[in-house]
Amino acid sequence: MRIVTGDERTFQWESAGGLVVVRMDAPGEKVNTWTGAALADLARLIAELEKRGKDVEGVLFLSGKPDSFHVGANLRTVLETGLRGHSVDGPGLGGLVATVHSLFSRLAALGVPTLAAVNGPCLGGGLELALAMTARIASDNPRTVFGLPECSLGLIPGGGGTQRLPRLIGCPAVDLILRGRVVPAGTALALGLIDGLVAEKDLAAKARDFLLEIISGKGVLQRAEPDFSNLDSRLAEAHRQVVEAARGRELPAPGLALKAMREGLRRTLAEGLEIERECFLEAAATPEAEGSINTFFLKSYQDKALADVPPGFSPKPVKKAAVLGFGTMGRGIAIDILRRMSIPVVVKDIPEALQAGTEFVRNTLDGILKREGRADVDSLVDLIKPVSEWTHDFNDVDLVIEAVFEDPDVKAEVYRELCVVVPRECLIASNTSGIPISRLAENVSGPERFAGLHFFSPVWQMELLEVIRGEKTGAHTISSLLHFCGAIRKRPLLCNDHPGFVVNAMLSPYLLKTFELLESGVTIEGIDEAMVLFGFPLGPVKLMDEVGIDVVHAALTKSLGRRPPVILENLVRAGRFGRKKSGRGFYLKDGRVDPEVLPLIPVPGQPGDYSRHGIQDMLYHPFVQVGRELLAKGVVDDHRSIDMGAIWGIGFPPDKGGPLKWADLTGLSQKLYGQSFYPAAPGE
Ligand code: NAI
Repeated sequence: MRIVTGDERTFQWESAGGLVVVRMDAPGEKVNTWTGAALADLARLIAELEKRGKDVEGVLFLSGKPDSFHVGANLRTVLETGLRGHSVDGPGLGGLVATVHSLFSRLAALGVPTLAAVNGPCLGGGLELALAMTARIASDNPRTVFGLPECSLGLIPGGGGTQRLPRLIGCPAVDLILRGRVVPAGTALALGLIDGLVAEKDLAAKARDFLLEIISGKGVLQRAEPDFSNLDSRLAEAHRQVVEAARGRELPAPGLALKAMREGLRRTLAEGLEIERECFLEAAATPEAEGSINTFFLKSYQDKALADVPPGFSPKPVKKAAVLGFGTMGRGIAIDILRRMSIPVVVKDIPEALQAGTEFVRNTLDGILKREGRADVDSLVDLIKPVSEWTHDFNDVDLVIEAVFEDPDVKAEVYRELCVVVPRECLIASNTSGIPISRLAENVSGPERFAGLHFFSPVWQMELLEVIRGEKTGAHTISSLLHFCGAIRKRPLLCNDHPGFVVNAMLSPYLLKTFELLESGVTIEGIDEAMVLFGFPLGPVKLMDEVGIDVVHAALTKSLGRRPPVILENLVRAGRFGRKKSGRGFYLKDGRVDPEVLPLIPVPGQPGDYSRHGIQDMLYHPFVQVGRELLAKGVVDDHRSIDMGAIWGIGFPPDKGGPLKWADLTGLSQKLYGQSFYPAAPGE
């Protein structure tokens, strides 16, 4: 007998005998999420099952989406409900969480076996649905993963996860929840999170057999009683590790998830759920939750640029590329083209650089490919054609990326020679750190085919790629380069020409202010520690050691035409190009500041008196000021471009949502400019 329901429903079900098979398939969506409509639909299903009572012997849940089970709460719904100012028994978010708890508890209390048959990601509220069932069985599809990633979004699991997962698998749940870890099906089986693992093609049939066995009593589920005797020490240890992983920062979400487990797990499930609800609302009301969710949405905003191809336009196919300059950046660019596109790449440099570069590419690629389970390093390295002259190899290239020294005269000469040997329609891009693209274009015949492609180091690890439109760059060139970005799996930040583009325009005042602080007597450790506690992965001084002090010098002087600070000048003169580059910079290998660097820092008679907050404000505010300036000048047309440039180009803390979002969340934008950068509508 078919019981169902309109096609527009997420939960469609049919029953054969006493077995009800539910298929989750949110209409018009790629994945299943919890929206108001989906929850209302689940409520209808549960009411129907309750009504049918003993006629139902078991319920099997499958997904109608290819390769995806359920990815949890719809964050847009969460934002629309509003994150702040909700009480546990009020409407809004409190009501939403209460509804989820009540529905999942009613599902758990049906009194008949229920089974989730999982193929693809089963995350957050999707896993919490599955946890409310009697058992779970999964496919061996590599995309099948389980996890409660809420803490990494500034939230905590709010659909029973903090209570049901530890009650099912014991203390290992603590680590999964606090770190927001996602595990493959094999690990989930070993943890006892699922009860069976089967071939993807057999999932539906095997799940049905499994459920029938439970119904008939033949299949007995192995469930060990969770051992919470060591709970407090496990919680304390997991918390210590999370704080250590966050480089000493105490973020609100893991602390609240911990509280929900510490206080809830020794009480009844119903009491535990109530505690979870309170902790969830407290986490949701923090600026870190809103910041983290903003960062989540920035990713899809950025990916939209890749799809933004004008109608009727076909991007220029890149079947052969060339990279000029085989130094730090040229090598990285070649690595990404090879591993993502497997096309011939001509590289031009002096012979010594070619040899060292090819060796570097081979070793680095080898490591990357091994991690990806690929073994084609030789065939990829064979695609490199190293040359020291303008050979006929350039006659049929589709795209050239220039990464020679950051010197406008050197680059100018390279372009003049290049344009003689490449086809007229060949796209040309510069990886300059900040020399205006329109200025470089003066040396390119056919400047409409010329643009900036600003990669970040190390190229194969950094997803961001600035795509810079010069005054004469053609629309088709930009679209083709965006298409190329997609092919090498970079996230593009499209901007108009401007000294330093977006990322270095923000980075340079950040570093210049750092030198100001050093010159006023603040210690290297004091500055770096303050910014790490603000949320950067490393402080600005250590950052310079990593990227190269000479690179910073060149970027400030040659790209941006600024006078270098005395300290920077002193270090470069002393040959201290950075710990990574020349073995000598600000820091020693063991992490201590190198005492030899101190005499190069002129100390004032009376050192400036800065608190940690003072340092953080002084170094953070320029991000906001420059961001506003770039928007006003039309370098980018959307506030989100500033935030994504800061997060993925400089390491601005993702839990703050970007400098402009953080300025909105802390009231700084209102205070400085009388308005917010982000509109009130969620996710914009
Ligand atoms: P690098 O000094 O490591 O490499 C430059 C290479 O260019 C050297 O191997 C040199 O022999 C070669 N070269 C110089 N003149 C040449 C010519 N006429 N023809 C062919 N090869 C030539 O420099 P790096 O760091 O790779 O920088 C390259 C470009 O990328 C610069 O414009 C720089 O501003 C930019 N950039 C650098 C970043 C970094 O983190 N290092 C980040 C983003 C951009």
